[in-house]
Amino acid sequence: MDKIVSLCKRRGFVFPSSGIYGGLGSTYDYGHYGVLLKQNVKAEWWRAMLQERDDIVALDAAILMHPRTWEASGHLAGFTDPLVDCRTCKQRFRADHIESSACGRKPSKRPGETPDCDLTDPRDFNLMFQTTLGPVKESGATVYLRPETAQGIFVNFKNYLQFSRKKPPFGIAQIGKSFRNEITPGNFVFRTREFEQMEMEYFVPPDEAPKWFEHWLEQRMNWYTELGLRPDHLRLRAHAPDELSHYSSATSDVEYLFPIGWSELEGIANRGNFDLTRHAEFSGQKLEYVDTASGERYVPHVIEPAAGADRAVLAFLVDAYDEDEVGDEARTVLRLHPRLAPVKVAVLPLVKKDGQPEVAAQIHRELRSRMSAEYDEGGAIGRRYRRQDEIGTPFGVTVDHQTLEDHTVTVRERDSLVQERVPVTELADELERRLRAPWSSPKLARV
Ligand code: GAP
Repeated sequence: MDKIVSLCKRRGFVFPSSGIYGGLGSTYDYGHYGVLLKQNVKAEWWRAMLQERDDIVALDAAILMHPRTWEASGHLAGFTDPLVDCRTCKQRFRADHIESSACGRKPSKRPGETPDCDLTDPRDFNLMFQTTLGPVKESGATVYLRPETAQGIFVNFKNYLQFSRKKPPFGIAQIGKSFRNEITPGNFVFRTREFEQMEMEYFVPPDEAPKWFEHWLEQRMNWYTELGLRPDHLRLRAHAPDELSHYSSATSDVEYLFPIGWSELEGIANRGNFDLTRHAEFSGQKLEYVDTASGERYVPHVIEPAAGADRAVLAFLVDAYDEDEVGDEARTVLRLHPRLAPVKVAVLPLVKKDGQPEVAAQIHRELRSRMSAEYDEGGAIGRRYRRQDEIGTPFGVTVDHQTLEDHTVTVRERDSLVQERVPVTELADELERRLRAPWSSPKLARV
């Protein structure tokens, strides 16, 4: 993990937030390449949800919602973690994570391990951030930063039945920020207090829920493997009955083998009719589907694949990180799926003279209207390749003296290091063809 954190900072993927003030616990800013990578992850999620299906529609709901939402959803009463304070080291811990926690003293101790530890009894701590709506704190209404995007979907269910002409089974998908005042955030962007979720609520006739639950388990596992995560680093883990959330009759987590061990990447839950029934009760509105032909009416059940965009980015980075040798030189390389790579192609003149920069700049201008492309003329060619390898650029195009004679360039592949000459007139088509081709991690072959 340390290598990933260091690469992310060095190459402008992710920085600790407010760094000049010493940072703010477990909040992060995405830099240029991080923005592009995360954008590509989210675009692939939208593609799988919207473009490749015709039974899902999109939503972008407000972060601040009516406070009754959180009474109905059960978050106000039950979205808590058990909190323990240590009066000696002044740190706070999750009571159910004590075994894996370290206290602030050096050498680090497990809370409660020494006679000096002075732990309080556990008490429930609600994870929702509160703020006040309106300018006067005393008379304003207390509202909450949403702890999940899902509730924005449930409160819009009726709007969607009316305008979208969809009938169950159909889904509503949303990507957006969520906030949780986690007691023990950490492990880089794995657990933070502000994060982005990619959630889809799939409304189905009640008797079809088990079938659609299985369908979404398969779909979501395929999404990660098609984007290059190594299958032997991914698994599905079904929740035991005592782990299930208050709304769920079945949940399975997609887990990835992070450097911190197997951990949740995404949760897929059968939420039954809990949310629609509760919102109907609290709002007084009917939230049910009525079949106009048969007169049949029912409250749909919901299957929910809920993924974290930041966790997905971290998993793709971890899976991609690699070190090898080119010639006698060590290189660090991100073997990202080309569709996820922040930059698809780097255009590099071999030398900064003889008209090569002008030709390369022209090729770059032509390519960038079709894909994310960078132009770089500074420094030795080897160093420029190393820099592109570190940000995961799958293709390097080099303009050399031969280009000026026969209008061909070399295309270098990040993974195989194979270099081929391609006519400039065919370059964009050829790169697009390679970007669309199936890809699997070269790290797989080594296991
Ligand atoms: N609507 C259901 C729901 O929110 P969840 O399992 O609590 O379920 C879904 O969250 C996903 O959101 C998780 O699998 C994880 O990827 C991401 N997530 C949750 N809490 C997070 C946090 N504190 N930091 C980063 N990502 C988080």
